[in-house]
Amino acid sequence: MASGARRLIAGNWKMNGLKADSLKLVGDLAERAKKRGKPSPEIAVCPPATLLADVGKALAGSPIKLGAQDCHTKVSGAHTGDISAAMLKDQGCTYVIVGHSERRTDHGESSALVRSKAEAAYAAGLGAIICIGETEAQRDAGQTLDVIKDQLAGSVPDGATPANTVVAYEPVWAIGTGRTPTTDQVAEVHAFMRKELIAKRADLADVTLLYGGSVKGSNAKELLAVPNVEGALVGGAALKADDFWQIIEGSP
Ligand code: PGA
Repeated sequence: MASGARRLIAGNWKMNGLKADSLKLVGDLAERAKKRGKPSPEIAVCPPATLLADVGKALAGSPIKLGAQDCHTKVSGAHTGDISAAMLKDQGCTYVIVGHSERRTDHGESSALVRSKAEAAYAAGLGAIICIGETEAQRDAGQTLDVIKDQLAGSVPDGATPANTVVAYEPVWAIGTGRTPTTDQVAEVHAFMRKELIAKRADLADVTLLYGGSVKGSNAKELLAVPNVEGALVGGAALKADDFWQIIEGSP
């Protein structure tokens, strides 16, 4: 683990959750976090935008941080349906995920756009969780590290610091599939990301690096013990308190 990095387990709820069940889930998590009483790993939940206000209220006084799943590049204006980073900050968010592969695919988001979104997050005082990862075809073609290099260079702004940036490696083929890379494959990519970030600027050595893609209670311990993995971005398993908590307990 990089000396200045923090450990972070973040739940990405995606387009899941209605109010009643979601408030039960966060109430349960807040209770467990209070009982646990340890500052590390840091815990965050990223519900859909419709639930940010209510989940934020339910987390008041809890160490669990609130995050969002996307933001616009602009602060305000004529952008129907979009939400700015300033609005997320206003709802009590600490983090915003940018560049998730589902947005890169479903909404055609380029690394340049992802970088602008991360810059918008910084300007609003939010931490950006910047996602990158190769497709299965790219891995099969032996292009994984080239893709990671390009996405890192394209998506991470010059204004990135260890305080405002988290990078999540999420192989697209591992997301929601129940398949995970081997620990050697994760170690290879994470060591590479660390090296690339240091090459960009020495102080970026301390940027927190997450692994994401089919993390669950049963594999968390092994994945979270991989060198240069400081936490996890969790999708499906973040929707049940027991499952999410098992991952948190699996963190060193
Ligand atoms: P998953 O999703 O844990 O359901 O694979 C992870 C993510 O997309 O962030």
